[in-house]
Amino acid sequence: MLEAILLVGGQGTRLRPLTISTPKPMLPVAGYSCTEHQIALAREAGIGRIILGTSYRAEVFESYFGHGEEFGLELIYAVEDEPLGTGGAIRHAAQHLTCGPDDPVVVFNGDVLTGLDIAGLVQKWRNEKADVAIYLTRVADPRPFGLVPTDASGRVLEFLEKPTTPEEIVTDQINAGCYVFKRLVIDSIPGDRPVSVERETFPALLASNKIVIGVVDDGYWLDLGTPLAFAKGSADLVQGIAPSPLLVGRTGLAIIEKSADVDPSAIVTGGSYVGHNARIGPGTVIDRSVIFNEVQIAGGSRVTNSIISTAAHVGSDCHIVDTVIAERAFIGSNNELVAGTLVFPDERIEPVTI
Ligand code: GDD
Ligand code: MG
Repeated sequence: MLEAILLVGGQGTRLRPLTISTPKPMLPVAGYSCTEHQIALAREAGIGRIILGTSYRAEVFESYFGHGEEFGLELIYAVEDEPLGTGGAIRHAAQHLTCGPDDPVVVFNGDVLTGLDIAGLVQKWRNEKADVAIYLTRVADPRPFGLVPTDASGRVLEFLEKPTTPEEIVTDQINAGCYVFKRLVIDSIPGDRPVSVERETFPALLASNKIVIGVVDDGYWLDLGTPLAFAKGSADLVQGIAPSPLLVGRTGLAIIEKSADVDPSAIVTGGSYVGHNARIGPGTVIDRSVIFNEVQIAGGSRVTNSIISTAAHVGSDCHIVDTVIAERAFIGSNNELVAGTLVFPDERIEPVTI
């Protein structure tokens, strides 16, 4: 049986204020958390046991997923008292692995939306007798990621995490946040302090001539780390542009949960998602947006490319663009929220009189 480690302990700083109470991997994208999409993908690839490396708001994961009974695999929690960094978290989680020293362990960043063929990546790791195989993707602007140049045979030459100088932009291939490690390589990561797998472990493995291969996959890939990316990821899932085993047969211009009450004159489109028990008033247009459970939006409003969290309330005739509204916030009628607006949990924005 194949085992995996899922890294879900980050603070999700770029997604504040949504991540004040909910860790980033547990925010709903098209109705299911990124973690749930990933667990479904992992299960399809034959992974039978996942260790979740948690730290920030660890309890949220366990109370939703339990030990995995409903999700078709076994889930174990490795909770860090203090965040150990990506490498430290992998090492800490590894104490729960049951596989042998030469067996493969799949490791996943918790905020990556992908349809990656995980079993195929494991097979390449096996074929190349690699110590580590890194899933790579190509992006137009690699600067916010880990750059991973490879030679003609696919051997990784360097690992340049979040480069700061133009000379370091040597490739458009980036670390896509999924690895296959030989178990004993994980056991060699220091266990007594925070370690970054990107800044410390990978460069050290390359310096000691370990076999580190990069496997470029040009299928769908997105890091959900920013509000714009999060809204895009949700819209891509809803429209079937991003694959997920959880949404088969439900994709289209919008996904509206059955318990939502959407006025027949409202328009929900562009890959929008409307959650359980949400209410959308007459004439309101929801375009390319993520509307969480219990949200109320009165009539005549227009919401574009925005994320509105649980039980928030938007009055009538509001215009909301590229905005993040956290849970239970109240936006009075006639407000205009421009691109980049962040509304905090329970914040109240008074109605505008016209
Ligand atoms: N358990 C634990 N402990 N998890 C952590 C910690 C920690 O201390 N720090 C981060 N994580 C988790 C986050 O929850 C997230 O799922 C994952 O590790 C990656 O952290 P991000 O904060 O999302 O990193 P990033 O997006 O800036 O960069 C990483 O991902 C890119 C691809 O999406 C790097 O791996 C880059 O090299 C990569 O290109
Ligand atoms: Mg990320």
